[in-house]
Amino acid sequence: MKISMQVNGQSHVVELTDEYTPLLWVIRDMLGLKGTKFGCGKAACGACTLHVDGEAVRSCSYPIKFAEGKKITTIEGLGDATNPHPVQQAWIEEIVPQCGYCQPGFMMATAALLDKIPNPTDQDIDDNIINVCRCGTYYRMRKAIHLAAEKQSALKTTNEPTNS
Ligand code: FES
Ligand code: FES
Repeated sequence: MKISMQVNGQSHVVELTDEYTPLLWVIRDMLGLKGTKFGCGKAACGACTLHVDGEAVRSCSYPIKFAEGKKITTIEGLGDATNPHPVQQAWIEEIVPQCGYCQPGFMMATAALLDKIPNPTDQDIDDNIINVCRCGTYYRMRKAIHLAAEKQSALKTTNEPTNS
């Protein structure tokens, strides 16, 4: 079977024999985007989180057949060193990562959260950011999520059209 999808703004057609191949396998092994990580492989840890049509999805447990026609964003497409996403910038400023392995998944989950809840409370964070960090960077992450929310809202205000 052939699956057409957009990944980080680029069109891709991939050919697979098993429609239940996890999207994560395709992203990492076929498209070579290694920023999205494999952790548990059973939708429990969130290391593999990316966006499908703007929703945070655990790609280790997302069959490729559902990706047909979808827009996928990985950590590589969220922003880059010269133009980081507010979440990436906040992560840098709060020096969040320890080993770093879980961090792309957390940043993708946070970016999706801020699109839905621009100014999340601590309770919103507890309810929605349920990934696992074995290094225990949760305290710095919480600070970074609040900082990212401030940065994103400042950016929106700056970019809003004026009526003059
Ligand atoms: S690797 Fe996908 S949730 Fe853990
Ligand atoms: S920073 Fe090491 S697992 Fe989270």
